[in-house]
Amino acid sequence: MVSQNESQHRDSEMTGTNQFDNTVALITGGSSGIGRKTAVAFGQQGANVVVAGRTTTEGDKTVRLIEDSGGSATFVKTDVTREDDVKQMVDHAISTYGRLDHAVNNAGNVGVPGPLAERTEDDWEYTMGVNLKGVWLSMKHEIPLLHESGGTIVNTASDFGHVGFEEFSLYVAAKHGVVGLTRAAALEVADQGIRVNAVSPGAVDTPMNRDRLGGSKAVQETFGPSHPLGRVGTPEEVADAIVWLSSEQSSFVTGQSLLVDGGYTAQ
Ligand SMILES: NC(=O)c1ccc[n+]([C@@H]2O[C@H](COP(=O)([O-])OP(=O)(O)OC[C@H]3O[C@@H](n4cnc5c(N)ncnc54)[C@H](O)[C@@H]3O)[C@@H](O)[C@H]2O)c1
Repeated sequence: MVSQNESQHRDSEMTGTNQFDNTVALITGGSSGIGRKTAVAFGQQGANVVVAGRTTTEGDKTVRLIEDSGGSATFVKTDVTREDDVKQMVDHAISTYGRLDHAVNNAGNVGVPGPLAERTEDDWEYTMGVNLKGVWLSMKHEIPLLHESGGTIVNTASDFGHVGFEEFSLYVAAKHGVVGLTRAAALEVADQGIRVNAVSPGAVDTPMNRDRLGGSKAVQETFGPSHPLGRVGTPEEVADAIVWLSSEQSSFVTGQSLLVDGGYTAQ
């Protein structure tokens, strides 16, 4: 399967132009999974990429992947639940590349699954912190610096931001929050020509699921059959949607949550 990004990369090699040339893209949670594939896709299409994440070794790997395919990238160690870190992340983008055009607030974690009645206040704080507060803090510090007229934000929500799922109540609540935050933010900044959207993946084969379930095969067996397309998604398929939402091709789309879920929520 050739992804949209790979085919655009090939086209750009032939024409010598890229759709994100001279722009700067910031991706949180860029050290693995969907965030890493998104960072690489932006880099292949000409953006200077700021990779934000908690793990320096993995973040540096993403930077190397971008540099190896001819792009420019920098890593900034960031915990998105800490406002000082988030401010420093955005400052790093400006001090390194001088501007910010595209932000992808993707850092997230399934939190602490299990029956709602057994969850603790710490479970709530943890799950809301990374999945919801982190997105708010990121937008808070990105918006004042985002390039007007053409600036974009894409927040990674989830199909669980649209439907319930038993024993994932805190994550479901956080991701519904991300969809709401996205809509409200889009309205606040529309008059600046800044677009804000969310991408809502179904189950995807990434470390978030692999580590919990014991590998790719287990991820497919657990979630594949419940998706009408009969399989889980790839991180490249979600990266394609994020790149599209960040591009001129989606210039009249704002305040939306794009479901990339193999038909899961169409049922
Ligand atoms: N994999 C799926 O099935 C799936 C489905 C729907 C939504 N999502 C969402 O996609 C996003 C990316 O997840 P993924 O599947 O690529 O998993 P992943 O675990 O590979 O990536 C998540 C990244 O977020 C980072 N992160 C976690 N907490 C952080 C914090 N406090 N500060 C900074 N970074 C932090 C992790 O280090 C990791 O790099 C998440 O928001 C997740 O909720 C994933």
